Amino acid sequence: MARPVLHTAICDFLGIEYPIILAGMGGKGRATPPQLVAAVSNAGGLGVMGGSGLSTEEIRRRIREIRSLTDKPFGVDLLLPASMADLEETKAAVRQQLQRDHPRHVEFMRSLMREFDLPDVSAEDNPVMSAKEIREEVQVVLDEKVPVFAAALGDPSWVVPLAREQGIKVAGMVGSVRHAVRQVNAGVDIIVAQGHEAGGHTGRIANFPLIPQVVDAVRPVPVVAAGGIADGRGVAAALALGAVGAWVGTAFLTAEESRIPEAHQEQILGGSSHDFIVTRAYTGKTARDYKNVVIDAWERSGLSPLPMPLQGALVEDFVAAAERAGRYELPNNPAGQVAGMLTERKPADLIMDELIQGAVDVLQGLQHTVAVG
Ligand SMILES: Cc1cc2nc3c(=O)[nH]c(=O)nc-3n(C[C@H](O)[C@H](O)[C@H](O)COP(=O)(O)O)c2cc1C
Repeated sequence: MARPVLHTAICDFLGIEYPIILAGMGGKGRATPPQLVAAVSNAGGLGVMGGSGLSTEEIRRRIREIRSLTDKPFGVDLLLPASMADLEETKAAVRQQLQRDHPRHVEFMRSLMREFDLPDVSAEDNPVMSAKEIREEVQVVLDEKVPVFAAALGDPSWVVPLAREQGIKVAGMVGSVRHAVRQVNAGVDIIVAQGHEAGGHTGRIANFPLIPQVVDAVRPVPVVAAGGIADGRGVAAALALGAVGAWVGTAFLTAEESRIPEAHQEQILGGSSHDFIVTRAYTGKTARDYKNVVIDAWERSGLSPLPMPLQGALVEDFVAAAERAGRYELPNNPAGQVAGMLTERKPADLIMDELIQGAVDVLQGLQHTVAVG
C-alpha cells in the first residue's frame, strides 16, 4: 500500500515526511530514550530527546546513539528557565542553602521520608540545575550540531545566534501569546504552543483558544501545537486551528520504546483525565502530574513549594529514595489529560502510523460529514 500523504510547511522546513514531532521530555532520560527518538524519526516524524536532568556527558552519549540509529533529522530539548532562583553549584552547598534558608521545608521532607518509611538516599547523580550547568548542556547541542534545538520555559535569545552559526534550527516552547512574542523576538524559527491540558510543565490556557491566538500573533513564524494530541483527530484539529504540526508527549510515554517505570505507564493507561492534575510539589513550577499522596501531603502542609530549581533540589532525595524502594506511587509521573484516551502500549512506529492515517481519514472524511459551500 502506498504511504499516506500528510504534508505541511514544517515538513519542508525540517526535512521530514510527516508533521508529527515527539515532544522532548526531560527528567532522567527515561521518557525519550534514543530508541524512541530514532523510531519517531525513522517513521517520518521528528524525534526530540529531552535532555534536562541528564549530565552533559550523558546528553552527548545519547545524541551519538541516536545518530547510530537513524540518519534522519532529530532534536534535543533543554530547559532554559527565564527566571531561576539562585542555586549553589555543588550538592553539598545546595543542601546547606536549603537547611539555612528553608528549614521548615527540609523538616517537612524529612517527615515524609519517615511517614513512607524510606531509606536515606542521596540523589548524587542528578546534575545541579545551575545557570553554568545549563550553558554546558547547550554547548553539547551546539558542538554536536543537532539539527533542531528546542528551548523550554525560558528566554533563548542568547542561544539563537550560536545555534544559527551551526546551522541548527531553534524551536521555542510557549504557553501564552506573550511568551510566543518574546520567543519570536529572540529569533526562534518555530513556536511550539502548549496548552493547559498537556503533561509536564504547563500554563493556564487551553489549546482551543491558545493555538489560534499564537498563530495570529507570530505569523509567518510556523506554530506547532502541543498538548492533548493522542490520535488523528487531535492532529487534524491542530491543523484546523492553524498549526503546521503536532508535538506529542504523553501518547509516546506509553510506547514500547519508552523507559518510564512500568508502574507509571500503568497509571497513564489506566488513569482518566481527572487523575492528572497541576501541582508545584515536585519542581516548583506548575506541572501536570498523576495525582498522588505526596501532592496531597504538600497541599495539606500549608507550605508553599519553593521556586524552581530549589523545589526540585528539595525533593530529589525523597524521589531517589522512593525509587530505590520500588515505591513508584511516590515520585512524580508527569503526563497529560490525554491519558484518558490511552489504553494500550504500542511500538512507536504504530503510534506514528495511527496518528498519520487517523489525521488523513479525519481530514478526508470531513467532506462527507460537513456540507460547506
Ligand atoms: C514526562 C514529561 C516530561 C516533559 N519534559 C519536558 C521538557 O523537559 N521540556 C519541554 O519542553 N517539555 C517537556 N514536557 C512537555 C512536552 O514537551 C509536551 O509539550 C507535552 O507533553 C505535550 O502534551 P501531551 O503530554 O498532552 O502530549 C514534558 C512532558 C512530559 C509528559
